[in-house]
Amino acid sequence: MSEPNTITFFSASDVAANLTMPAAIDAMRDAFIALSGDRATIPPRLHLDAPVVQGMNLVMPVYAPEIDLIGLKFVSVYPLNPKKNKPTIHALMSVYKGSTGEPLAVIEAEKLTAIRTGAVGGLAADLFTPGNADTAAIFGAGHQGITQLMALCEVRKIKYVKLVDPSEAKRNAFTGHFPAITFIEFDESPPKIEADIICTTSTSTTPLFTLAQIRPETHINAIGAFKPDHREIGSDVIANAAVIVDSMQPGLEEAGEIVIPMAEGTIDASHIKGEIGNFCNGELNPQPLRKQLTVFKSLGNAIQDLYAARIVLENARAKGHGTKLKL
Ligand SMILES: NC(=O)c1ccc[n+]([C@@H]2O[C@H](COP(=O)([O-])OP(=O)(O)OC[C@H]3O[C@@H](n4cnc5c(N)ncnc54)[C@H](O)[C@@H]3O)[C@@H](O)[C@H]2O)c1
Repeated sequence: MSEPNTITFFSASDVAANLTMPAAIDAMRDAFIALSGDRATIPPRLHLDAPVVQGMNLVMPVYAPEIDLIGLKFVSVYPLNPKKNKPTIHALMSVYKGSTGEPLAVIEAEKLTAIRTGAVGGLAADLFTPGNADTAAIFGAGHQGITQLMALCEVRKIKYVKLVDPSEAKRNAFTGHFPAITFIEFDESPPKIEADIICTTSTSTTPLFTLAQIRPETHINAIGAFKPDHREIGSDVIANAAVIVDSMQPGLEEAGEIVIPMAEGTIDASHIKGEIGNFCNGELNPQPLRKQLTVFKSLGNAIQDLYAARIVLENARAKGHGTKLKL
């Protein structure tokens, strides 16, 4: 796979050049089929907090024998960074050959994370929304918001978008990425969110809207929150929705959207319909859910990084991209 005693470094632009959104969406389908089929080893991710600066660091290992790869991502999430003109997220991933443990690559993983996170949102929208869905609302105009909308545009003909973010600069930068989309304003207060698909990709730790504000058949990709006491979606919405998770155990233990209503007694674990992989592998049928309120709760999973990294490695090798480093 690589020359002995060398690894390849892939920059953010190498990742962007070698991981298209359609390929990433396909890779996420394969990744979650492997996860739900217990065909990968994914230890619980390690949380390493830096409380003085509200920093949260995650260490995410994964081994997938069927693609003969091991991955280890270190991702830092520092919500105060934008005030310092720095990105919220930084990430690096190292990749190893599963059968020998040889190091193969180091990947700039902020771009990888944004693309794979968008891609699973696109996969969920493809599974749980009707084919004519054309209106989206995005809460959080940052990196993940941009890739969510990019992925939605791959699976549905999105024409109208409502964008919510307290930062005007972020809203302006966001709209610049999507010249073909019509951005519409809310005309009521509190706003009625008349969207087929809502993506929450904010750093908010409290619910962004109520059940009364949304359509009964909306699909929601809940992406931003990843701690048991943080949530973007409230108990009212969760209790009335068919809830799908990326991975069951972490969902029940780490996702505030699920942990908080369970602690209140509003729902129990049986409220969760299944993992997205159960819908991808045909075990569960997504069709009936397309006419209901659905919430896909994504915490993010190391399997996504590994299957996305695999595409980068394969495509970059064919094109000679990446920088060889001697060990
Ligand atoms: N589920 C996953 O796999 C996954 C992957 C990557 C990141 N994330 C999470 O997604 C979140 C966003 O990440 P990012 O890289 O896009 O960060 P970012 O800083 O680029 O964007 C976050 C945006 O949210 C906005 N925001 C904050 N409060 C808001 C509110 N109440 N309403 C609307 N917008 C609000 C901010 O102004 C900012 O523009 C983070 O919490 C991150 O940890 C999840």
